[in-house]
Amino acid sequence: MTFKSSDVYDNRRYYEIAFSFRDISQEVDLFEECFHRYSRIPVRRVLDLGCGPCPHLEELARRCYEYMGLDISEVMLASARQKAETLRIEATFIRAEMSTFTPEKPVDFAFTLLGSLYAETTAELLSHFATVAAALNPGGLYLLDGCISFRWTDPAGEDESWSIERGGEDRGKISPGGSDRSSRSDL
Ligand SMILES: C[S@@+](CC[C@H](N)C(=O)[O-])C[C@H]1O[C@@H](n2cnc3c(N)ncnc32)[C@H](O)[C@@H]1O
Repeated sequence: MTFKSSDVYDNRRYYEIAFSFRDISQEVDLFEECFHRYSRIPVRRVLDLGCGPCPHLEELARRCYEYMGLDISEVMLASARQKAETLRIEATFIRAEMSTFTPEKPVDFAFTLLGSLYAETTAELLSHFATVAAALNPGGLYLLDGCISFRWTDPAGEDESWSIERGGEDRGKISPGGSDRSSRSDL
């Protein structure tokens, strides 16, 4: 079956299978390498923008960082809150748009991973950077791994996709365009 990537966001089980190729501990190692190299302040409070099911929560808490997650999707936030509760980790979650939010407390480090910045205009991109800058303590750091590429001249032409399975029973092809819409009912 083929999923549109946005469909996967509403299903934690499939989401976790789709992105299970990641090494979260190594990603957090990279964060810390960036702190050491580039941050002008000690990092204690971190903000995960477009946090989804917060895959970094456990590893960050294990390394004693205070975690805040922000997402626009209530489904994703419910799943993130449930994970924090199960792991007994104190964390803050905010439902907000990542280009216009105001956190309750400023943070030392903000990150947006998996190309989760979906800014479609220059104004939106600039608003995002200004919003993140305002959320950071002076000398703090923002890590952005990439942006979604919109093929605005050919929206149907998105061709990035991958297939992944776990234990032979959960199997699917992930595609931003979700070209095979007919198989969605198999979900
Ligand atoms: C690809 S997932 C990434 C989740 C997580 N950061 C990770 O590394 O696995 C993208 C997330 O961004 C959220 N999102 C998309 N647009 C957003 C926006 N404008 N503001 C806040 N969150 C957004 C989606 O709801 C989804 O949970």
